Amino acid sequence: MTVDVVAVALGARSYEVRIGPWLIDRAGAEIAPLLARPRVAIITDDTVAPLHLDRLTQAFRAEGIDPVALALPSGEATKGWAEFARATEWLLEQKIERRDVVVAFGGGVIGDLVGFAAAVLRRGVRFVQIPTTLLAQVDSSVGGKTGINTAQGKNLVGAFHQPSLVLADVDILTSLPPRDFLAGYGEVVKYGLLGDAAFFDWLEANGPDLAHDRAKRQQAVLRSVQMKAGIVERDETEEGERALLNLGHTFCHALEKATGYSNRLLHGEGVAIGCALAFELSQRLGLCAQESPSRVRAHLRAMGMKVDIADIPGDLPGAEALLALMAQDKKVVDGRLRFILARGIGQAFITDQVPADVVLGLLNDALAQRAA
Ligand code: GLY
Repeated sequence: MTVDVVAVALGARSYEVRIGPWLIDRAGAEIAPLLARPRVAIITDDTVAPLHLDRLTQAFRAEGIDPVALALPSGEATKGWAEFARATEWLLEQKIERRDVVVAFGGGVIGDLVGFAAAVLRRGVRFVQIPTTLLAQVDSSVGGKTGINTAQGKNLVGAFHQPSLVLADVDILTSLPPRDFLAGYGEVVKYGLLGDAAFFDWLEANGPDLAHDRAKRQQAVLRSVQMKAGIVERDETEEGERALLNLGHTFCHALEKATGYSNRLLHGEGVAIGCALAFELSQRLGLCAQESPSRVRAHLRAMGMKVDIADIPGDLPGAEALLALMAQDKKVVDGRLRFILARGIGQAFITDQVPADVVLGLLNDALAQRAA
């Protein structure tokens, strides 16, 4: 059994991401060196708990560690003040102390919420991420962005709080519904598109095998985490380069908002559509050859993913309304929309020099495909 290790070098906040098969069975041994006393508090959700919580708690008990656990409702609605208050108060009831470790065991919602609870509990306790979705393994569990949603928007309240360890168990991903696995793949492709053309080549050849081939799955998680770790090391608090990780996200956030953050469009699906639109926009602006958006779309199609706005079921607002939703994105600086565009596959860059009429033309054409 090979465990890959990616070091995230952030001075006093450095940590490792360990990636391997059935790592949850070794969670007790992996986390024990971090503990000041043999006790951990696990927060998970009610989808993950029935599938995997017993296995995780046994792994702690096998090392003489006493686990206590709380399962929150699964779904994006959990990532708000009410469940955040419940989680932090439960941690206090469990008498979690400053030197204790909290474990976030779930997808992005649990990781973000529990990370934020750990950031503010007793002015900051350490936490370990055990991400159970592909999206959380390759993106949200690494880099220390934590937070919750409010009535005003997504992730508007939060903190940078790096985990002390991330355990990415590549076998736990086999219990994901295929649609969720594929949605997470949207974030994997993003890394190839933004900065590693050779990885995109590899994904074109191997992407369809990831769901059933553990070694390739581990390779894809490893390369994604290596890229994320490098970017976070260079720009922890998103002053510059880290914004590249938002490739496809300005379009995605508008589409998610337009579909009410519902099952009509999962986040990773929106990222995939957003990446295809970002490459199309780059081509229309003369930044890259037509071959690039064609390759992006062909690969996403070959994976069986949503590629076009036309693939989103149900009604959508018009192009002007979508552009207005994009303008509400929290990445807007001084009222100017910032886009991640590309000069080719693996060559993304950040710009706020995008004429609104070109974006409107792109959205109008994409929406017209729905009617066709
Ligand atoms: N998910 C984007 C970032 O971590 O910066």
